[in-house]
Amino acid sequence: MRKHHKKLVLALLSLVAVVFSATDPNDFAILQAFRGGLENPELLEWPANDDDPCGQSWKHVFCSGLRVAQIQVQNMSLKGVLPQNLNQLTKLQRLGLQKNQFTGALPSLSGLSELQSVYLDANQFD
Ligand SMILES: *[C@@H]1O[C@H](CO)[C@@H](O)[C@H](O)[C@H]1NC(C)=O
Repeated sequence: MRKHHKKLVLALLSLVAVVFSATDPNDFAILQAFRGGLENPELLEWPANDDDPCGQSWKHVFCSGLRVAQIQVQNMSLKGVLPQNLNQLTKLQRLGLQKNQFTGALPSLSGLSELQSVYLDANQFD
């Protein structure tokens, strides 16, 4: 009986873990930095009090599991600089930044082994 009880508790705990699991915290931090580098972040319409970009309410972000796999912000008139640690989004597959007003240095894409496409055209990078 005791053993059975223990198993039940473990099963419940793992269920709770699945239900409450959210976007990788480091991926979230990079997206925060992305937003923070913009002069007009409101255009993204990312929710202010939500730390789960892989949840339902974040536009322009697409995930694979709990990792950010795509950022698609083309032609949104975004103005600003990119976080230089963008390559910490290590599961990034597609990056669509074209037709905005990004300035400053292009971040390194080093180590992004799953990257399939990157569109940077029509911006004002250094
Ligand atoms: C960019 O967005 C503007 C405004 O929404 C739209 O009129 C235009 O056709 C878009 N251009 C491209 C190339 O997608």
